[in-house]
Amino acid sequence: MGEGLETQVLSPETGGVEQAAALLRAGALVSFPTETVYGLGGDARNGRAVARIFEAKGRPHFNPLIAHVPTLDAVREIAVLDGAAADLAQAFWPGPLTLVLPIRDDAGLSDLVSAGLPTVAVRVPAHPVAQALLTAADRPIVAPSANPSGRISPTEAAHVIAGLGGKIEAVLDGGPCGVGVESTIVGFDPVPTLLRPGGLPKEALDAALGTRLATRPEGADINAPGQMTSHYAPDAGVRLDAETLRPGERLLGFGDVDADWNLSPSGDLVEAAANLFRMMHEMDEAGSDPIAVSPIPDTGLGRAINDRLRRAAAPR
Ligand code: TXA
Ligand code: MG
Repeated sequence: MGEGLETQVLSPETGGVEQAAALLRAGALVSFPTETVYGLGGDARNGRAVARIFEAKGRPHFNPLIAHVPTLDAVREIAVLDGAAADLAQAFWPGPLTLVLPIRDDAGLSDLVSAGLPTVAVRVPAHPVAQALLTAADRPIVAPSANPSGRISPTEAAHVIAGLGGKIEAVLDGGPCGVGVESTIVGFDPVPTLLRPGGLPKEALDAALGTRLATRPEGADINAPGQMTSHYAPDAGVRLDAETLRPGERLLGFGDVDADWNLSPSGDLVEAAANLFRMMHEMDEAGSDPIAVSPIPDTGLGRAINDRLRRAAAPR
């Protein structure tokens, strides 16, 4: 904090959407809610705004960002949407899905958005506040998760203030995010490929495509923060697949176990995804004793949960 900026908290109930849109149009940085996590938004066509996003997050590299737009028509203004990508867009947008598409020559995006790649990652979020904001901003808005680089993603406005307060102009408070893990990312080079597991389960994508999405081999080289080894990291150490607690550990439980924090006592993966980052933030604030995590099935949203937990547990 203490970066010289007073970060405003805006409310959708009192004109906050219009204020946030005006700030974005003026080149300011505004965090906003989506159904996955809070994004750190900036005008995708304003190179200075995009550069400030990297600066505010303390992101070490200019990794490519996701451009957010409200409609499929707006997608077509910046990217080429056809073939299997168009099928997935029809089936799942608006929603927790990001598609990596060929960028249009006349998209007008800052070069920093795609980090020099011929593709751009695009998402049409479903959250009503995000939809209203993107419509009012009337331009593509890039938004990585609104957390300092390497730290836990935010699912509440208070998480954004704790991590980025003083570094951004405003946060639009839309309450807690319903899905709780970032969007699923699919690329098409050359076949539909799962680039990041996320809020839309792979099984749903497989069903819509009528075939199995290709997956990237573990550790494959991608220039992406979500793909870095240590990410989503609380201060405390994290140990996965813990069947029993070791002395001094705190349990992040799943299912019918005795735990101070339980992602879902009933073993529901949707509930667990929605609780994941909030509980990691809470455990981080409550102490520094190591965190043990119950085993979580690797199906549906469990894939995204396990992906984020593996990164939280990775060596720093
Ligand atoms: O749910 C989400 O996706 C959230 C909300 C705010 O929309 N955003 C988010 O952004 O998670 P971020 O920056 O944390 O993750 C963006 C991911 C990175 O892993 C990045 O490498 C990948 O998208 N990406 C962006 N452009 C790409 C491209 N042209 N090719 C391949 N991957 C790309
Ligand atoms: Mg992130």
